[in-house]
Order: sequence, then C-alpha cells, then structure tokens
Amino acid sequence: MNKLNITDTILRDAHQSQAATRMRVEDMLPACELLDQMGYWSLECWGGATFDSCMRFLSEDPWERLRKLKKAMPNTKLQMLLRGQNILGYKHYADDVVDAFVKKSIENGIDVIRVFDALNDTRNMEQAMKSIKKYGGICEAAISYTISPVHNEEYFINLSKKLVEMGADTICIKDMANLLLPVDAYNLVKKLKEAVSIPIHLHTHNTTGTGDMTNLMAAWAGVDIVDCALSPLGNGTSQPATEALVATLKGTERDTGLDLEKLSEAAVHFRKIANKLKEQGDLDPKVLNVDTNTLLYQVPGGMLSNLISQLKQQNAEDKYYEVLAEIPRVREDFGYPPLVTPTSQIVGTQAVLNVLMGERYKMISKESKGLLRGEYGQVPGKVNEEVRKKAIGDDEVITCRPADLIAPEMDKYREEAKDLARSEEDVLSYALFPQVASKFLAERNKKLDQPEGDTDEVRTIIVQDLSE
Ligand code: CO
Repeated sequence: MNKLNITDTILRDAHQSQAATRMRVEDMLPACELLDQMGYWSLECWGGATFDSCMRFLSEDPWERLRKLKKAMPNTKLQMLLRGQNILGYKHYADDVVDAFVKKSIENGIDVIRVFDALNDTRNMEQAMKSIKKYGGICEAAISYTISPVHNEEYFINLSKKLVEMGADTICIKDMANLLLPVDAYNLVKKLKEAVSIPIHLHTHNTTGTGDMTNLMAAWAGVDIVDCALSPLGNGTSQPATEALVATLKGTERDTGLDLEKLSEAAVHFRKIANKLKEQGDLDPKVLNVDTNTLLYQVPGGMLSNLISQLKQQNAEDKYYEVLAEIPRVREDFGYPPLVTPTSQIVGTQAVLNVLMGERYKMISKESKGLLRGEYGQVPGKVNEEVRKKAIGDDEVITCRPADLIAPEMDKYREEAKDLARSEEDVLSYALFPQVASKFLAERNKKLDQPEGDTDEVRTIIVQDLSE
C-alpha cells in the first residue's frame, strides 16, 4: 500500500462545523505559505456554507477570498464542496447556473470539486459533474453516507459504480455525521477498492468520538485520501486532528509523509484564531464534546450546533433532547433521507416544529412539502403517505429529474442584478443569495467607489445549515 494522502479542512469544514463558518480570509492568509508547503493532497477552503457566510456575516467577497487563497497557495490543490444542483444554496438551480458557477469556481482557483446530493439522487449531480470535467477540474463525486433500513454496503457500492460511469475522478465517502463506525469503514473501503479503480477519499467527523478509529481502519483497508483538520479546530463536530493521524502512521506502510513540526507550526497560528473565535462567542465549547447521542439520533455535527442556536433563540433549550428524539421519526416519515444540507435543515426544522407546536405536523414547512412533493429528487425509501397527504394534499409528485422543470435562469439573474453586479461572479453571488448578495454588493460597491466612506454594518441573523 502507498502513503496515505491527507486533505486538510482547516479553512472550510473545520470552522464551519465548530465556529459557524466565521473564519475570515485575514485569519487564513498568514498561514497560507506554510500550508502550501505541507504536501497535502488538497486543502479544502471554499464552498459549503463559506460562500453565504462571507457575504452575510463577514462583509467579504467570496470570489475575492478564493483568488487571494489561490495566490497564496499556488502549489496545493484547492478544494471546494458543491451541493450538486443546489450549488451552494438550498434549492435547485437551472443547469445554466450550475454550469456558470462551476466554470467561475475553476477559473478563480478551485482544483478539486467535491459534489454531493443530499438524497444520493445522481440526477442531481449530473450537470455539476459534466461541467467540472468540461472546465478541467478534478471531479470528486461523493456518496452521502447514512444508516437506515434502506442503506447498506450494496447500495453504496452500486452508487459508487454509477458515479464512476458518470465520470468521477475520485469517490468520496462523505460521512457528515460520524456515523461510519471503524469496522464498517474497513469493510466498506475494502469492498469499494475491489469494485472501483479510482481513488477513494474518506470524509468523517469526530462528533461521536470514533473518527480517528474510523480513519485508521480505513487506512488499513487501503483508502487513498483522508480528511483531517489541524488540531486547533479539529475533533468534536469537526474532522479528527491531522497531527494525531500523521503521528500514528509515521513509519508504517501508510506513512502520510507530512512533517509534524511544520504542522505544529501551522497549529500555533490557528490556535490563536480558535481562541479569537471563542472570545467572539462563535465557538461554543459544546461542539468539542463527544456526543454519543449522534449514534442514536444520526444528527450531523453542524446540525447539532445549529439546533442549539435555533432553540436558544426560541428560549427552548430544554427541548434539545426531545427534538433530537423527534428527528429520526421525521426522517422515517420522509423516506430516510441522509441528513446533510439541505435535508438536515428540512428534517431538523420540521422536528423543531413538531416539538414546539405540541402536535406532530400541525405546522409543515414549505421545504418539508417540497421534499415530499419530490422537488429535491427521489428519496431513498418509502414516504409515510399519511404525512405526505397532510402536507401536499393531492398535488402531483415529481418523478423526473427536478432540474428538467427549471428553464435557464442566468439571463434573468443578469438582468435583475445589472445595477449591482460588476462581474459574472457577482451575478452568481446574486443568483445564489439574492437578498444577502444585494446588500453585500451595494455596500462593497460603495466601499470600492469611495474608499474613505463609512459603511454602517447591519447584521441579519438567519440560521444557516452547517451540516456537511
Ligand atoms: Co463535513
């Protein structure tokens, strides 16, 4: 077996999972030269919730962030997370928006695009995968790992084979909730290595405390690449710490080749950033606890921190465990979707409604209705028809590829954003988050035009979905 390759998530999933995606590009740049010398397979640094967060909370242009990171790290593959047809938003976009977004991501510096669909409906990944190949990116197709009566090894192997046929360069086992137990990881990786000939990349978290063991067992089974996060923002709801795995494998046949001293040097910088995030209140120490409840409730790390803040806002923190118990019941009713953005948000919010209203499905969110109507694609299992009837009555259920029902949208967005957008990138920011981007672009333009001028920053508090 060859060396084990490492992707470090310190610039994306680590702070998305632990600190509500609040790391700024200024927090990243001082360490970039060092990160660039590390010899990582890739650095995950963009996509997921970072795009929204940049504009919504940090007054930062996400495209500008990407260009700065690329300039600072010319020798390392930069990686992003893309939600398939949802791009970086929470709904389906037309194919031309997906294509334009992928094109601009690669043009501005992304090398590897990890694409997933929350329901593992490959029709929702088709356009993104085609575009990644077209524009010369590395196409990493992810299987959203979950546990349910309909998800088993055979299911994931068939899914992976299909993704290989669709042009994947690597396959990612995306275990956003740290549900993949060590022995299961060993078996799944072994079987995947036999079934497909492209590299296998494992992404897990340490929410339940099994992440390190899962990575180690996967390494012994021959996994090619593993996601870790530098220790200051590693573990807990984030990825297992990079240094621990590097030290564990040193001198073995899976030696990562990474230098512990260099890693520790980079960790010094990020420890300062982690402390700052703690002081700002963006990093709740709760996310560092081992939560074995996740093994029972299958709730991903990002969703836990999200849930805590949602309940806090409602003064209903005491309902935490009640909501945790309601989540698997809603998930069953909805046909066992894996819990990842946006289904985690949909199922989580519905569970909150079911508990806070004191009666299940007394109130049904628009998104729950959409999921039950098939707007997000095919759910893996059978839907509770009684709940579906309550939600959408006799409405027709969509069975085609949902994006086939969406006409091209780019021209419409170009027109709508014409007063604010100064580039195609701006149009895409607007397409994904019309309200947030309008406000952001207006302020940014003002700053660009009058560098001296004061800007009043108004903060909107909107709960994001962070589970991926
Ligand atoms: Co993740």
